[in-house]
Amino acid sequence: MLSRTLCASTLLSALARAAPAPQVPGYTDADFPISDVPDSIEPIPSSFGRDLQVPAIETSASSAYPRVSSDLTGQTSHGPYFGTPTATGAIMADTTLAQSISPHPPNPTATYYNAEGVLLNPALAPYVPNGGLGTNGTEPRYQVESDFDFESIALGLYQEWIELDLFNNGLAVFSESDFLAAGLTAEDRAYISFMAHQESGHATLLTNMLGEAAPVQCTYNYPYTTVREFIDFNQKLTRWGESGVWGFLAHLDSREVANLLSQSIATEARQQMSFRQMLGLHPMPVWFETGIPQSWQWTYLAPYISSCPMNQTRLAWQNFPGLIIANQPNPNRFSPNDTTPYEIVGNRTSDPSISDIPNDESCVNVNVTGYSCGPAIARNRSEPLSFPGKLVNLTWESPGMPVGPNNSYVTSTAAGAPTYVAWVAQLNLTYTPLTVTGNNTGYTYQPASEVYQGDPALNGTAFVALTDSDPYLTPFNLSMINPHVVALGVYQAG
Ligand SMILES: *[C@@H]1O[C@H](CO)[C@@H](O)[C@H](O)[C@H]1NC(C)=O
Ligand SMILES: *[C@@H]1O[C@H](CO)[C@@H](O)[C@H](O)[C@H]1NC(C)=O
Ligand SMILES: *[C@@H]1O[C@H](CO)[C@@H](O)[C@H](O)[C@H]1NC(C)=O
Ligand SMILES: *[C@@H]1O[C@H](CO)[C@@H](O)[C@H](O)[C@H]1NC(C)=O
Ligand SMILES: *[C@@H]1O[C@H](CO)[C@@H](O)[C@H](O)[C@H]1NC(C)=O
Ligand SMILES: *[C@@H]1O[C@H](CO)[C@@H](O)[C@H](O)[C@H]1NC(C)=O
Ligand SMILES: *[C@@H]1O[C@H](CO)[C@@H](O)[C@H](O)[C@H]1NC(C)=O
Ligand SMILES: *[C@@H]1O[C@H](CO)[C@@H](O)[C@H](O)[C@H]1NC(C)=O
Ligand SMILES: *[C@@H]1O[C@H](CO)[C@@H](O)[C@H](O)[C@H]1NC(C)=O
Ligand SMILES: *[C@@H]1O[C@H](CO)[C@@H](O)[C@H](O)[C@H]1NC(C)=O
Ligand SMILES: *[C@@H]1O[C@H](CO)[C@@H](O)[C@H](O)[C@H]1NC(C)=O
Ligand SMILES: *[C@@H]1O[C@H](CO)[C@@H](O)[C@H](O)[C@H]1NC(C)=O
Repeated sequence: MLSRTLCASTLLSALARAAPAPQVPGYTDADFPISDVPDSIEPIPSSFGRDLQVPAIETSASSAYPRVSSDLTGQTSHGPYFGTPTATGAIMADTTLAQSISPHPPNPTATYYNAEGVLLNPALAPYVPNGGLGTNGTEPRYQVESDFDFESIALGLYQEWIELDLFNNGLAVFSESDFLAAGLTAEDRAYISFMAHQESGHATLLTNMLGEAAPVQCTYNYPYTTVREFIDFNQKLTRWGESGVWGFLAHLDSREVANLLSQSIATEARQQMSFRQMLGLHPMPVWFETGIPQSWQWTYLAPYISSCPMNQTRLAWQNFPGLIIANQPNPNRFSPNDTTPYEIVGNRTSDPSISDIPNDESCVNVNVTGYSCGPAIARNRSEPLSFPGKLVNLTWESPGMPVGPNNSYVTSTAAGAPTYVAWVAQLNLTYTPLTVTGNNTGYTYQPASEVYQGDPALNGTAFVALTDSDPYLTPFNLSMINPHVVALGVYQAG
């Protein structure tokens, strides 16, 4: 402990030396009261009678576009699929132009540089600087514009559908008192229910942008048996739901679709943060949210879909083998170091940590700053879930496993032998060497890279892949990692 403290303070002073001065000076003569603590909070209102009658007219919403699903209430059918698939594998185009995408130099027309900060080209109109897409008066068309767009939005719709079912399912299977025991009130339940309603709106939006072949709702197979596990699963599932969209959003052909999708994913980002808060995790221990390729999102999502109706539109994305963190730190423990091997409810990659641990090891009801993990706006963790340099035990599946709706997709990889562990967090991709210790087993050490000075890259719920090499990739070309991916997992760093 002592050496860690010393190490941390040395690091802090190094950062203080390196940090630039603020760009504008602070206030020196602020005359507002610095302390805002009231002398008394009495009297506290206890009767909430008739208000002032404020000016108003009678009005009502004109009839809005109907949603593709009603609000779910009560239980829906769940569980694994035991039937025989009638279709197998991702859908393929009639023609595939190459076995892989080859790198090219930057686009020759991408040369704009403005050292003076003045306008370099004729303005389109007063106050309309030259450039932009969809700014010249063309009428917007809110429809996907390519196979890439269709498959991306269809994947997003599979995600919206599971969220609609999932948020409702937790409310249906756990009682008010189950939630209270996890520190979540009837108001929190109403909030989760509201999030389910948001999903029916998102599903409607995405369905409309796709047209009649839009995927419909499926039947799911969830991993949780307690409220904490439900919340943990939600914060993981919304993490890759959100990151999957950040990964493809800027690549969409249709700017109109990207516009509306941004406005729905902003809501999903808030859901992810709220579920972290309900689990007593730091709400957002990063400066940037990361983006991942579509095939990663589909790999994470597919194992939780048991079956889809006949004629469901299928997806073109790859399913990679699963990667399990055998010593995934358990966020229900005040001492994450004490997590025992495989303290996860199952071996699907986003399975939550087991919450049913002895009371004297749990942080859920602890009332000490730095050690509590009950629901809160923000929590400090004196003992971090994970830290740079930690040995991380990995096991991974072999390819060829049936997965996803009706077990009708098959995991695959185009990569050679696993050599590196790729960590995808914030804006960064970091590799560490993999030490193989047995069949589909090995370990590595958590890396310490920073995005910018003072922002450790790996924190929160992050993504980890086994790869056969260590290509240099940045957020906009991260999908070129796919031919090198052996297996994919989710890492709970904080
Ligand atoms: C957890 O393990 C790390 C690495 O061995 C160690 O530095 C740290 O002190 C441990 N945490 C506690 C609270 O003991
Ligand atoms: C990805 O983009 C970076 C520039 O941001 C470039 O240096 C790298 O070569 C690209 N990688 C591939 C495989 O195209
Ligand atoms: C507007 O811009 C688009 C490209 O963004 C172009 O295809 C279209 O022809 C332009 N329309 C007009 C009226 O200039
Ligand atoms: C992750 O973020 C939390 C909250 O800011 C912080 O306490 C912890 O040290 C961070 N972990 C790492 C590895 O930087
Ligand atoms: C998947 O299973 C469901 C439920 O058994 C069935 O209705 C559907 O036709 C199946 N779909 C495929 C593609 O096999
Ligand atoms: C599935 O598609 C076929 C061919 O279009 C159609 O005949 C059949 O009725 C569809 N089945 C369902 C359940 O929609
Ligand atoms: C983790 O890996 C280390 C190093 O190979 C090994 O000693 C340890 O037993 C492994 N633990 C688990 C849970 O696999
Ligand atoms: C997950 O896999 C490990 C290693 O194969 C095994 O020990 C453990 O029992 C599995 N967990 C579950 C819930 O199946
Ligand atoms: C938590 O501790 C504080 C300070 O000791 C105390 O005022 C508060 O009542 C405690 N809360 C609970 C739920 O035990
Ligand atoms: C919470 O953590 C921050 C650093 O992450 C630290 O500066 C602060 O003192 C901590 N606050 C409490 C109440 O522990
Ligand atoms: C790996 O698998 C092979 C064949 O299945 C087996 O003979 C061998 O003992 C295994 N090695 C380890 C370390 O488990
Ligand atoms: C992390 O990302 C930032 C922003 O793109 C970049 O400047 C930095 O070089 C990256 N760091 C590493 C270690 O890759």
